[in-house]
This record gives sequence, C-alpha cells and structure tokens, in this order.
Amino acid sequence: MEIIREVKAMKAYVRSIRNKGETICLVPTMGYLHEGHLDLMRMGATMADHLVISIFVNPTQFGPNEDLDKYPRDMERDEKLAASVGVECIFFPDASQMYPDGYATYVNVERITQSLCGASRPNHFRGVATVVAKLFNIVEPDFAIFGQKDYQQLAVIRRMVNDLNMNVKVVAHHTVREKDGLAMSSRNKYLSPDQRRNALVLHKALLYAFSLVGSGEKSSAKIREEVMDMIANTPECVIDYVEIVDPDTLEPVESIYADVVMALAVKVGSTRLIDNMTLEV
Ligand code: PAJ
Repeated sequence: MEIIREVKAMKAYVRSIRNKGETICLVPTMGYLHEGHLDLMRMGATMADHLVISIFVNPTQFGPNEDLDKYPRDMERDEKLAASVGVECIFFPDASQMYPDGYATYVNVERITQSLCGASRPNHFRGVATVVAKLFNIVEPDFAIFGQKDYQQLAVIRRMVNDLNMNVKVVAHHTVREKDGLAMSSRNKYLSPDQRRNALVLHKALLYAFSLVGSGEKSSAKIREEVMDMIANTPECVIDYVEIVDPDTLEPVESIYADVVMALAVKVGSTRLIDNMTLEV
C-alpha cells in the first residue's frame, strides 16, 4: 500500500492508472478509522480497479470553537486497517499541501446547506464541499463513496457534483452501527462510559419515530415533540436539532404522506453526535 503526501505525487499516481484505462474508487475520510469507514472501503474495493482513500482532517470544515485540534488521529493504526480491506493507496496530505499560502477559492453550495447541521455549523459545508471538490480534482475518481450517517453531507456533495458537472459517480453507503445501535463515529471516542450509554437515545428516538410513522402518525410536530421529550429527559443530552425533512430537498415536512428523513444532532456532554433514519410510510 502506498502512502502519498504530496498533491503532485498523487496526480502522477492517478495519471499512471488513467493511462492504462483503469478505474479508481475514492473513499474520503478524516481518519481514525472505524468499522463504518472500513465498510465503505470494502464496498469500494468491489467497484473499481483501484481503491484510494484520503485521510485529511480538513481545517476549513471546523468552526473556531470546534474540535479540530483534539480530533483523534492514529495513522499507524489507520494504515493497518486500510491495508486489511484492500486499500491500495492512502492520500495523506497536510494542510499546507491542500491550502498553500494564498489559497482563496471555496465551493459554496446554496440552500441545502442552510438547515440542519448547516444552521449550527456556519461554513462547515463550505469546507466540506471545497475539500471534496479538491480531492475529486486530485484523485479523479470514477466512483466516490459517502456514508448516509452524514445525510446532509451526502446531499450537498450530490448537489455539487450535479451542479458543477463533475465526472464522478457518488455512491451512498448505509449507516453502520454498533451492536447496540449507536452509529459509529470517530467522535464516539470522546464519550465517557455513562455518556456512551446515554448516547443510545439517538438511535432509540429514531426507532420510536419510525414506529410512530409506521403506525400511521402523520404529524411531524407530534413526532418531533415526543422525540424531543425522550432526548431531553436523558441525562447529559442537549438537543441541537430534531427535524423531519424531505429526503431530497431537506426542507421540513409538516404532514407525512411519503417517506421522510428524521435527522438529529444532540450534544452528549460536550460531544456533538448526529444520526438520521428514513421514516417509511
Ligand atoms: P469522516 O467523518 O471521517 O467520514 C468519512 C466517511 O465515512 C463519510 O462519507 C461518512 O459519512 C462515512 N461514515 C462515518 N461514519 C459512518 C457510519 N457509522 N456508517 C456509514 N458511514 C459512515 O465525513 C467526513 O469524514 C468528512 O466530512 C469528509 C467527507 C472526509 C470531508 O472532509
């Protein structure tokens, strides 16, 4: 497995693959890999001739008071895990490779970035769209895989690829969960054992909403109220948002007559966790 730190070297590597007419699948990550990431990679290994991942804790998607500095990192472990699922090359740039002096260009996806996480994390999706656009230009993948765990991120990237006529097929992977239902996340590492238990309320709340819709409840307001009560009554949990939205536009839905997505963000102690689920009518 190759580890490439420079944009120029990455482009040369890609060129040699392209010259042979072979295909590339890219799985972008911020590292500290878990089973969720690895599942995306296993899927990627079946889709193209070459599986490339990126590991880059992207500074432009973090707000000034967020966890950029303490975001968990363990390259040695990540290398072993990546090799075990068939990754052929890790693109592992540092910030000066991606944002050299004088850097001034950002990708701003409008509208769908305003709600949900975009409302509480201004500029987050500008950073995500920018770094993903750069990764697409550097790695020129035929396919790129993103997890549904970050539902809004996936929607933003799809919008960008479509709007900017990018030559990459965006593939979604379902959310990978721990046995007890907690969505896997590099940030779960921050949770104390008590907080880890309390964090289960995110998945429980989604399942409860799923069951309400399944038994015919049409009112988003009613479902949100019940779910918000459930979360607010859990120790150390503070709601950032609980929304029921259209799966494509991410606009709020008031009455549920077609599948919707419930998305939530909750602070458990000082750790902000997100999760979502499609509620099927
Ligand atoms: P990161 O949080 O490392 O996630 C990398 C990819 O793994 C994303 O597509 C994310 O949705 C997916 N993923 C994370 N946890 C998952 C889970 N439990 N189940 C399924 N997929 C999961 O998301 C980012 O990094 C960054 O924003 C990035 C896209 C790399 C841009 O910097």
